[in-house]
Amino acid sequence: MLKESNKNKFYHFYPNIVCVVMSEFDNRINAMPVAWSSGISSNPRYFGVLIAKKRFTYKIIEKSKKFSVNFLDWKYLDTVVKLGSTSGEEIDKIKEFNIPIEKGKEVYFIPLSYVVYECTVIKDEEIGDHNLIIGKIERVLIDEEVFDENEKPILEKVKPIFYMGSGEFVKLEISEKFKEE
Ligand SMILES: Cc1cc2nc3c(=O)[nH]c(=O)nc-3n(C[C@H](O)[C@H](O)[C@H](O)COP(=O)(O)O)c2cc1C
Repeated sequence: MLKESNKNKFYHFYPNIVCVVMSEFDNRINAMPVAWSSGISSNPRYFGVLIAKKRFTYKIIEKSKKFSVNFLDWKYLDTVVKLGSTSGEEIDKIKEFNIPIEKGKEVYFIPLSYVVYECTVIKDEEIGDHNLIIGKIERVLIDEEVFDENEKPILEKVKPIFYMGSGEFVKLEISEKFKEE
């Protein structure tokens, strides 16, 4: 039987995949993990991230109108945690945490990622305590070693990072698979 929760929480949509959003303006390169993200449109390809206005990342994207979305394997969890517990407002996270970066067509990205989207902002709207930033995906970079012929990640080879909220992360181990005929 269901009962009304009195804890006032709503994070029941977790676990969510984590990506790292990287942005640059005026020679400042910064990165932060994001758990609130979604594909928005497949043709044209739009990807949305929800970023609170108080994040340094937001301030940079607001000016540059560009960002990259970097999906990292579980082995880089430690780096993701560090990026999510510090602010570019105070430190240069890229230097401090020794994060390799590469310049794409227009934005910097993390070459250790198994997938990268290079995006230009087409919409930025304040919604409650976050801003929905929708990026047009200009380019998708993939590590071909960990993808099958349909560009699906081979989950035996790559382990996306999933977030449960409150500083808790989980790793996906497949116990069952079902595919519609
Ligand atoms: C796993 C994880 C997911 C997060 N997801 C979001 C998110 O979706 N939106 C957001 O605004 N902050 C999110 N945060 C918080 C920011 O990543 C964090 O405040 C970061 O330090 C901001 O860095 P910045 O000030 O350099 O931009 C998340 C943190 C972690 C650890």
